[in-house]
Amino acid sequence: MRGILNFLGVKGFAVLIGLGFAFVLLFSFIDTLGSEAAEKSAEYALHKEAREAHLPSDGPLGRFDNAQLQRGLQVYKEVCAACHSLKYVAFRDLTALGYSDAEVKAIAAQWAIETPSINPETGEAATRPNLAADRFPKPFANDVAARAANNNAVPPDLSLITKARENGPAYVYSLLTGYGQQPDPAALADHPEFATPEGLYYNPYFPTVNLAMAPPLTADGQVTYADGTTATVDQMSKDVTAFLTWTAEPKLQARKQAGLAVIGFLIIFIALTWGAYKSIWRDIKYQQ
Ligand code: HEC
Repeated sequence: MRGILNFLGVKGFAVLIGLGFAFVLLFSFIDTLGSEAAEKSAEYALHKEAREAHLPSDGPLGRFDNAQLQRGLQVYKEVCAACHSLKYVAFRDLTALGYSDAEVKAIAAQWAIETPSINPETGEAATRPNLAADRFPKPFANDVAARAANNNAVPPDLSLITKARENGPAYVYSLLTGYGQQPDPAALADHPEFATPEGLYYNPYFPTVNLAMAPPLTADGQVTYADGTTATVDQMSKDVTAFLTWTAEPKLQARKQAGLAVIGFLIIFIALTWGAYKSIWRDIKYQQ
């Protein structure tokens, strides 16, 4: 021991111990990386990373495209509303998409599903046309009815879905366009537990790769857009994803714009503070 200390000096010895620690840390770090990747590939052998939807609301300059949001509302109304509720959104919120009050009233009144109410004469349960102040009506009376109609799976409420899932907009877009692929036979042979059970559908973007939702958007032209845009499956998926990004965060555009204004203000403020600092200390520094 004394010999080593004499040979290296105390400093050299400390450096040696430090290097030892660094080596152990590095080794364990590399080791976890490897095992995580291995675990992931075992769990997600048939799973794919979500593809970006490239929406106008992406990025720090993101903003909503009202024409796209209106098309997305149309896809939701004509396709998704049969199974999925939007319980946190009221018809009157649609004025943010550029509709007038009269148009919002008409959209509410013409909605296929009505709002539950009570017949004032008999006191029995009934329904009435929706008003602008109503939330979007739910397609099923309760979860039991929803399960009965959907192979024992409850279609989740979509109001916040793009916030409730990691990388939400990319996930929803990928899920909608991800049907119709076949699982890799070699990976499936290794992981037979991922084989698609009867009544479910393979979709590599769903976390467990098999889900109870039949492909909702299957054919180009399934929706006839009021603004004449060609309704490919990809376009409809993007539009409804943009709409669901709006329902989850209607103030997204205002938030991003406020952020930019704050950064602009801070840059000017830093310049002013720097100028003040320079001018206050100028004479004092000269005296030294
Ligand atoms: C026929 C009924 C039906 C229609 C129509 C339908 N869905 Fe679904 N959806 C379901 C069911 C059932 C599930 C739950 C699947 C599961 O958990 O296995 C689901 C799940 C989802 C999920 C996944 C949620 C999660 O947990 O990650 C999203 C996103 C979704 N639907 C979006 C849509 C969109 C957007 C539309 C319209 C283009 C649509 N769905 C149309 C029945 C439907």
